[in-house]
Amino acid sequence: MKEGIVRVGIIGSGRAGMIHAKNFANSVKHAKIEALSDSNEEYLKRNAKELDINKTYIDYNDLINDESIDAIVIATPTIFHREIALKSAVAGKHIFCEKPMAMNPEECENMILSAARSKVNLQIGFMRRFDKSFVEAKQRVLQGEIGDLVSVKSLTHGPSSPKPWQYDISKSNGPLAEVNSHDIDTLRWYTESEFKELYAIAGNYRCQQIKADFPDYYDNMLLIATFMNGVQGLIDGAAFVQYGYDARVEILGTKGVIFVGSLENNTVVSCSAHTGMRRDIIKSWGDLFKDAYLNEDIEFIQSILEGRDPIVTGTDGKKAVEVVNAGNESIRLKKPIQLIN
Ligand SMILES: NC(=O)c1ccc[n+]([C@@H]2O[C@H](COP(=O)([O-])OP(=O)(O)OC[C@H]3O[C@@H](n4cnc5c(N)ncnc54)[C@H](O)[C@@H]3O)[C@@H](O)[C@H]2O)c1
Repeated sequence: MKEGIVRVGIIGSGRAGMIHAKNFANSVKHAKIEALSDSNEEYLKRNAKELDINKTYIDYNDLINDESIDAIVIATPTIFHREIALKSAVAGKHIFCEKPMAMNPEECENMILSAARSKVNLQIGFMRRFDKSFVEAKQRVLQGEIGDLVSVKSLTHGPSSPKPWQYDISKSNGPLAEVNSHDIDTLRWYTESEFKELYAIAGNYRCQQIKADFPDYYDNMLLIATFMNGVQGLIDGAAFVQYGYDARVEILGTKGVIFVGSLENNTVVSCSAHTGMRRDIIKSWGDLFKDAYLNEDIEFIQSILEGRDPIVTGTDGKKAVEVVNAGNESIRLKKPIQLIN
């Protein structure tokens, strides 16, 4: 690391990759964006130009082998996370890997061991742990404001049409992984416990046009769970809801309840004969969690510079993937699944 500056390379310049790239280019102290990689040459050229980055690599191996790079952000489709992380660790690069960490717990374990062996940091992209409201709710739980925890309900509905690579459950693990990994992590974080047993149901209601090609794809999912400490959990997941980005949590205790999140984009309400009463809905996760993405990128650099583990670790990523896989198994077998902890 030269002069206390962490030089970052981004692999995958899609929706998530560009959020991190812009953060490191403009807003994270002691970090510099050094290079961008994307297997799609057109995206790569366009995005590098937008970010004013000179160094671009179509093959991510070239970015990993670039000696001027200290740390790598992995924001490719999930199926590539493991391989890129293992190669990055061997090359001695610190790793920020987007959620879901990988396709199964074994892949996650490989990544954890490889990072530990190379003594590099491995952080997973659960940015809700850095969101002001989510953190405030956690603090209120810890202060005992609602007594003992009884249940945590977490809902995430994504607005946009899934990316084509997400339709194939064998390559993406479906919306449970792509949309609801965040809810799984929130439940683990708030309950401070692990999933013990779960039951999930799912169906395809809005993506009818791909039903013949991808019969296993689901765009709506409900999952109920019990935790090792007896707390109850519920996850309500949906993709392609179109109305907006909806992320809300309800934490019920023996002495009260905490609500996190709202659909309202701001406090403006307009009324007219023509439109009726109108409020703006939050359109995108990029807007809702803008500060949280920045805070997690700051944490990535800080933890590297301070030589400590990041707040969100590979183990958090692995635990969420275990639940994703168990949830998909429950959907497939139509029965409850016990998790082994
Ligand atoms: N933390 C969050 O809230 C959040 C939000 C969105 C996406 N994600 C995660 O980020 C990852 C990417 O999702 P996305 O929505 O940005 O997808 P995307 O399809 O918008 O972008 C993926 C990019 O990776 C590129 N790519 C594919 N294979 C590659 C390879 N082998 N080498 C280099 N580049 C490659 C694609 O060309 C594309 O530009 C996924 O794991 C997803 O779950 C996380």
